[in-house]
Amino acid sequence: MPDARLPMPVARSASAAPAPPAIPFYSPDLGEAELRALQATLASRRLAGGAGQTERCHRLLAATLPDSLPLLTQSCTAALEMAALLLGLQPGDEVIMPSWTFCSTANAVLLRGAVPIFADVREDTLNLDAAAVAAAVTPRSRAVICVHYAGVGCDMAALQAVCRQHGLALVEDAAQAVGARWAGQPLGGFGVLGAFSYHASKNVTCGEGGALLVNDPALRDRAEILWEKGTDRLRFQRGEVARYSWQDVGSSFLPSEITAALLAVQLARVEEITEKRLAVWQRYDALLAPLAGNWGLRRPQIPQAAAHNGHIYHLRFPSRALRDHVLARLAAERIGASTHYEPLHLSAAGRRFGRAPGPLPVTEDAGATLLRLPLYGDLPPGEQERVVERLEAALAAIPH
Ligand SMILES: Cc1ncc(COP(=O)(O)O)c(C=O)c1O
Repeated sequence: MPDARLPMPVARSASAAPAPPAIPFYSPDLGEAELRALQATLASRRLAGGAGQTERCHRLLAATLPDSLPLLTQSCTAALEMAALLLGLQPGDEVIMPSWTFCSTANAVLLRGAVPIFADVREDTLNLDAAAVAAAVTPRSRAVICVHYAGVGCDMAALQAVCRQHGLALVEDAAQAVGARWAGQPLGGFGVLGAFSYHASKNVTCGEGGALLVNDPALRDRAEILWEKGTDRLRFQRGEVARYSWQDVGSSFLPSEITAALLAVQLARVEEITEKRLAVWQRYDALLAPLAGNWGLRRPQIPQAAAHNGHIYHLRFPSRALRDHVLARLAAERIGASTHYEPLHLSAAGRRFGRAPGPLPVTEDAGATLLRLPLYGDLPPGEQERVVERLEAALAAIPH
């Protein structure tokens, strides 16, 4: 007799087919080398940050960005906070940024008492529109933070021109842009400062982590001090001073050697990881082209100058209702599709602390209609086909 308190095993029921495996929204690309690096670091007993593994990461970052000073951070959020400190933002200063971004871009500015000013993004890339930036400039404007959405570069020449014209500092929130380029140059290296994310959802990951790229040589010395709790410990390590002491404001921005050990392996694999993701991205694009035509879906548009990194594959639906319907159907099939940002100017904190000088129709449309599909390097082609097939079935089942 089966025990009535226990659920019936699914396999015993003749009619119920086994559920297809869940497809997660993201899945870090980790292998044996990552495991070995973590084991070796634990065995070394050198766990505090700023030692050999951190130096390895810095060397790997400097290999692609030789004119920058790279500093590992605990997150991209922390790197953006460091950037805001280095800009010397004062209460009441204005920083122009997209509303189509994560709240960390705005929080970094708010923590200095400055005001986020939200400008609209372009219809093609969902990246900051240089004309909207120019229209948002006031005598209080100090800086622009651009976001390379989905790892597709912003029009850097246009943004640099606006910033030059108005004497504004340009900072790149390159959270999603690890390994991506614009006009042949790595993203993160265009602004006075650039910030990367190595969060678990990003292409290259150590769970939680980031890096600040200090591209303006005038900010280097201070950046080193802020990074190490406001001390000149790095100068001491280089033998430039006999002892280190408190010099300036700062915080503990650096991650532990465990985090850095994992990241060093991932950074060394960035090209391989990017290639795998691009293959998945391109496959989605080919599979979805006919569907997009039939149902009025907008696929990502990649400008000629952008070498993107396959970070996100997104579709934009004709309406919020249709997007939400498809999202719910995919969720019911355990397919990890996801919307993206709630536009910051519509959020509670954005309304309270920020300002949008003009309407933001493209941002609001993206917030209402965009859907991201599961994407990771090891997503098998058969599973990808299942995602597209279920998406098509959801569209065919639109309630009238
Ligand atoms: C544009 C942007 N900036 C900053 C962040 C924050 O990154 P982190 O989680 O590394 O702090 C994110 C997170 O996804 C992001 O999308």
